[in-house]
Amino acid sequence: MTNSYMTKVLFVCLGNICRSPTAHALFQAEVNKANLQGRIFVDSAGTGDWHVGGQPDKRAQKTALEYGYDMSHLRARQVSVSDFSEFDYILGMDQQNLFDLKALKPSSYQGVLGLFLTESGIKEPDEVPDPYYGGELHFNHVIQLVEQAVRGLLDRIRKEHKL
Ligand code: 4NP
Repeated sequence: MTNSYMTKVLFVCLGNICRSPTAHALFQAEVNKANLQGRIFVDSAGTGDWHVGGQPDKRAQKTALEYGYDMSHLRARQVSVSDFSEFDYILGMDQQNLFDLKALKPSSYQGVLGLFLTESGIKEPDEVPDPYYGGELHFNHVIQLVEQAVRGLLDRIRKEHKL
């Protein structure tokens, strides 16, 4: 259940089965730790539609579980123009995601649209690289980048929304 007083954050990657569900699960855990789950709503989506309705990639789930995060309840969906009426922060994982999101963005959008790492205060790298065609090392790299970034993102949102 969400309400209009919630600050809403959407993480976006290509398939919504590797990087953005990882960001979704880790940021949700950070929000819960701060007891802000009634104030911040978290979601994720993909620019592509190949995996709609599916669970996160098994390799991403396994890596997340090793770090203590269960993401088996998440299901992939495709980003849509209506997300721009809903979300205060729309954060792409890489430059291609951001390019695709900019193409969808209504000119009236007032929220923050940018790269997840950059908007979270990380100087470099600016992209969370796509691990889909990679191995275990790539999935570990994703989760390590995401773990660093979610802390900075929550600090920023707390400041900007006085939470
Ligand atoms: P994600 O990874 O964008 O981090 O979810 C991918 C998932 C699926 C595909 C590509 C990247 N794919 O080509 O199906």
